[in-house]
Amino acid sequence: MSKQFDVIVIGGGPGGYIAAIRAAQLGFNVACVDEWKNAKGGPALGGTCTNIGCIPSKALLQSSEHYEHAAKHFPEHGITVKGLEVDVGKMLARKDQVVKQNNDGITYLFKKNKITSFHGRASFVKTADGGYEIKVAGAAEESIVGKHIIVATGSNARALPGAPFDEVNILSNDGALRVGAVPKKLALIGSGVIGLEMGSVWRRLGAEVTVLEGLPTFLGAVDEQIAKEAKKAFDKQGLKIELGVKVGEVKTDKKGVSVAYTNAKGEAVVLEADKLIVSIGRVPNTIGLNAEAVGLALDERGAITVDADCKTNLPNVWAIGDVVRGPMLAHKAEEEGVAVAERIAGQHGHVNFNTIPWVIYTSPEIAWVGQTEQQLKAEGRAYKAGTFPFLANGRARALGDTTGMVKFLADATTDEILGVHMVGPQVSELISEAVVAMEFKASAEDIARICHAHPSLSEATKEAALAVDKRTLNF
Ligand code: NAI
Repeated sequence: MSKQFDVIVIGGGPGGYIAAIRAAQLGFNVACVDEWKNAKGGPALGGTCTNIGCIPSKALLQSSEHYEHAAKHFPEHGITVKGLEVDVGKMLARKDQVVKQNNDGITYLFKKNKITSFHGRASFVKTADGGYEIKVAGAAEESIVGKHIIVATGSNARALPGAPFDEVNILSNDGALRVGAVPKKLALIGSGVIGLEMGSVWRRLGAEVTVLEGLPTFLGAVDEQIAKEAKKAFDKQGLKIELGVKVGEVKTDKKGVSVAYTNAKGEAVVLEADKLIVSIGRVPNTIGLNAEAVGLALDERGAITVDADCKTNLPNVWAIGDVVRGPMLAHKAEEEGVAVAERIAGQHGHVNFNTIPWVIYTSPEIAWVGQTEQQLKAEGRAYKAGTFPFLANGRARALGDTTGMVKFLADATTDEILGVHMVGPQVSELISEAVVAMEFKASAEDIARICHAHPSLSEATKEAALAVDKRTLNF
């Protein structure tokens, strides 16, 4: 007889593993099925985020930033380094170790929470007595039955038509993290989050990087003023970003890759590079799920159709994270996972889509929450804006990193914070104050009245809030 579970989670990424833990905390008998394999063929829990996404990219961003600091910024501090070199092999090995620590951490959490872990690919078989039968195809094949199913199968990199990923010359986010030596010339298609982060890693290590972007505007989803400031910084660093291009044929040979494109002026150009990273978005992953077997509905993009509560068209089948609508962000998936587990337990799980923070881990970092100025203008909403530059912040000066600013947007009448946008040092951490403020429906004045430690970068947040009322103290 098949093993029976209250909840079966399909996918062990940040959405799935967090859903499994929360469900277990709530007293359910939980299984999680995940097929990711480590280099030795064993399980590697954590999904794209842990294995080939958020975590390894941050490890390489840190290593490459150290290198750039040593090469370009140490002399300002009176520190001379002779014979500075990069050992890419060691850098990648460190990154792999960071990944492994995270894999092992999730395995430990599963044991601690008594979650049964299956290593293999899960697919729907049929509705079964009291739930759904799921086949697990791993080293051995097993059949399990769950009363509730949470699908958290994530997403895959979108390939450019006619240029499939070979992970040697044409790289996805996966291959981009495994380049064994610094390419002399690196081309990227798509100046979104992955394009900017991976472009930054390899530029810092010495590659000549060109990013080709189809849209005429840079980072269209980001507040225009912030995107402009970020672009200025990237230009200064030598990260070449060409906007408004139309990519044509991509060819590979022993020497590398060539990308034919038409630039914004309508000229035909061929870009030669050693490697090409294609970062043009991701597609929901339902490969091999056998959704048809039970009649699980997908939308026209291939995402699983869900309502606001992550309920699919089938009773007791839920879907969360990248495989459903909404931003493809690990922390959005986590929140949905917690909310679904709580709904299964009869509680009122809730995800506030208006306060999901975004972070791009470049240097300067870019972070935001809430609405942008262009969105408020389009809505015709009356608002007040306040900005404060890091140039006027003592801690930023001491750090030697004064690029960027903090910007507040608040309702013109009520002063409620509608959006906070940042570009500059460590804003990935600073943004959480803004998220908390918005979650509690704070006004800009609330932040302006709160004592912030001196000297700290967070004073720029307080000052930008003061700027909404045109009364900055340090600028
Ligand atoms: P993205 O959606 O951030 O950016 C894709 C870019 O490619 C866009 O600017 C788009 O206009 C451009 N593009 C699309 N088709 C094109 C074409 N044919 N030619 C030229 N340009 C084209 O997607 P990305 O960077 O691939 O990232 C995928 C997902 O992973 C995103 O949803 C992102 O949020 C997530 N992610 C999040 C990170 C973070 O939170 N720090 C880090 C990395 C990825």
